[in-house]
Amino acid sequence: MHMRARSSDVLVVGGGIIGLVTAWRSAQRGLRTALADPEPGGGAAQVAAGMLAAVTELHYGEQMLLGLNLASAARYPEFVAELEEASGQGTGFRACGTLVVALDSDDRAHLRELHALQERSGLESEWLSGRECRRLEPMLAPGVRGGLRVDGDHQVDPRRLASALVTACERAGVVFHRAWVRRLGVTGGRATGALLADGTELAAGQVVLAGGSLSGRLDGLPDSVVPPVRPVKGQVLRLTVPPAYAPFLSRTVRAVVRGCQVYLVPRADGELVVGATTEEMGWDTTVTAGGVYELLRDAHELVPGITELPLTETRAGLRPSSPDNAPLLGPTAMPGLHLATGHHRNGVLLTPVTGDVMAHVLTTGELPEVGRPFAPHRFGRSPLIASPEALAPQEQPA
Ligand code: GLY
Repeated sequence: MHMRARSSDVLVVGGGIIGLVTAWRSAQRGLRTALADPEPGGGAAQVAAGMLAAVTELHYGEQMLLGLNLASAARYPEFVAELEEASGQGTGFRACGTLVVALDSDDRAHLRELHALQERSGLESEWLSGRECRRLEPMLAPGVRGGLRVDGDHQVDPRRLASALVTACERAGVVFHRAWVRRLGVTGGRATGALLADGTELAAGQVVLAGGSLSGRLDGLPDSVVPPVRPVKGQVLRLTVPPAYAPFLSRTVRAVVRGCQVYLVPRADGELVVGATTEEMGWDTTVTAGGVYELLRDAHELVPGITELPLTETRAGLRPSSPDNAPLLGPTAMPGLHLATGHHRNGVLLTPVTGDVMAHVLTTGELPEVGRPFAPHRFGRSPLIASPEALAPQEQPA
């Protein structure tokens, strides 16, 4: 494609929170930045609960990711303060901590293992008896057998975060193109921009592909640079705590019930988010009776009083997941093309550090130390790339 019109230094393809933070940081560094997305601020952030769970979502074999997660968690207070100042909007950040509880002896054994792993990893986490858990959170079920108190795992409201990032981008001079990207522009083997669905041609010195779970679907990408990202469905419920019931919960409460993660995230404004299913269902975003039933059943086992609350929303989103559950950040084999995608369960948590890593990449061409393990070239061509027919364009999250 020969690019003529509308040129910028950087074009970000995808306006979810990862694309937005990349564009914001890029513009702050003095780069003329454009972003293409039909609905900036949409995508998975509209569904996500917003747990900043570096410690409580630690998994065996993910030590490398832990370093990035902790680096981003440490940035959060300063990041939201800067973003709130820049946008004039709140983000709902709450330094509330998290309690992970066990409902039976199997859960308790699992939690003991998690606690040992956390301690070996040098993380702060305190073992509590069931009685101590209920003293902290009186709405917990009498049967709770023990738990882990993690005071460093906080929360933010992803919808407010996304909205604040849109405004911060606008104020920093990011040019929004509210349209689908039809295909990547490539000239002489180099990424040079994109063609939009409305026919607009965008030229750019560097292109960042931040299209969430659809990042592997952009036409014009040679196989060697297609990111191995697949959608992993999560169904999430939103309830409301009436003022008479407050404080219902004072911190995030989570557990693994019959092998499934369930978490309850209480916002300061009375919203209570309950999540989430983890389903390999391709591009399906249907909210199912079974998904809602399982979430409510498991949440009810943790906190029986939940059945009294109004259920205000049910929704499903798609996590953009890579083969090792860690993001793909930085330059690809195609000159001029970078990735910022594949954040799986940690997109909200990793927003601050992703912005910093991508700003460094865009201004120096190199990944900073913290981002180096997440270079896209750690994967060869992946068999996990979705088939092009799998999704109608209007369903595309960013
Ligand atoms: N980080 C929570 C989730 O992906 O469900």
